[in-house]
Amino acid sequence: MLKIEGINKRFGSNEACKGINLEVRKGECFYLLGPSGCGKSTLLSMIAGHLSPDSGDIILEGHSLLNMPPNKRPIHTIFQSYALFPHLTVFENVAFSLRIKGVVDLEERVLKKLDLVSLLEFKDRYPEELSGGQQQRVAIARAIIDEPSLLLLDEPFGALDTKLRKEMQLELKALQRSLGMTFICVTHDQEEALSLADRLAVMNSGSIEQLGTPENVYDSPATRFVASFIGESNILDGKVEGDKILLSNSISVPITKKFQSGEIRGVVIRPEWFELNDGVSVFSLTGEVISRLFQGASILYLIKTELGKIKVLVPVDDDLSPRQIGDSVVVRCTSGSFEVV
Ligand SMILES: Nc1ncnc2c1ncn2[C@@H]1O[C@H](COP(=O)(O)OP(=O)(O)O)[C@@H](O)[C@H]1O
Ligand SMILES: [Mg+2]
Repeated sequence: MLKIEGINKRFGSNEACKGINLEVRKGECFYLLGPSGCGKSTLLSMIAGHLSPDSGDIILEGHSLLNMPPNKRPIHTIFQSYALFPHLTVFENVAFSLRIKGVVDLEERVLKKLDLVSLLEFKDRYPEELSGGQQQRVAIARAIIDEPSLLLLDEPFGALDTKLRKEMQLELKALQRSLGMTFICVTHDQEEALSLADRLAVMNSGSIEQLGTPENVYDSPATRFVASFIGESNILDGKVEGDKILLSNSISVPITKKFQSGEIRGVVIRPEWFELNDGVSVFSLTGEVISRLFQGASILYLIKTELGKIKVLVPVDDDLSPRQIGDSVVVRCTSGSFEVV
């Protein structure tokens, strides 16, 4: 439903967006994910119309948006702060834009939207009398009051602590599903993007490095940047030789992509693809535990090996005898296929 074609935007000599192409489908929750300063908000502002691209086009449902002022675009942006009016009730916050326009069936329309976001019983409260999740739902009800095609959310959970963030993420996802609306969200938090996005674009320095489902991007990172930015990963460098990469004199792994023999490439191995217990493996190596982090359901070990320091994630259930710092261990890689970057 939304097509972004060859968008460029520079601020002086700073190229904030470089040749961005992407398509967002109707009804999906699409994420722009990348580190601070990579151009996410700039791209969102161009979709909303607060900034104009230097070149390229933005097409919504078949029509270019470029000559349309922001308030005429069927698009709403929700900012981190929600920007609710503290002195107005929930009802009046949602009704605000309709009052300005002098709409006749105002009450009916506001109540319908409040019902959609399950806030009918809170309609007479003030924002400060609501939880963060409820405030976010007021902001969404207000944003969808005139039935936009697209909602843009810039760092929707930015300032919240971890526990509240998780709860609100679950709520937002459920709401997005039930509304069946198209959301484009921006975040630098890879966990948020992986858990909420139907599809996501990973951005770095103004460009999209990979676009796909969370599973695609996690399991098959296209670049070294994506592999290191998304989730924890080990990137082990080795020399390409035919259809193998030699990680050491005795350890090699099969590869499916074609590379020049002799090239140095990185093999991406997630910490959970290693094990410390006995069993079959694609390759194994000895090492020494140099650090460990208890993470509740699992333990993340850092192990010094001939291939460098390797992160190994072991579910607590499988960790029959948790290893201590200084222990010698055998690290086994259990994955059968490898992404090479
Ligand atoms: N109005 C502006 N004037 C000058 N530079 C800007 C402006 N807005 C953003 N930038 C620069 O463009 C780059 C991308 O910024 P932004 O899109 O805000 O990144 P993100 O949202 O991914 O953190 C940054 O280097 C930022 O400093
Ligand atoms: Mg930003």
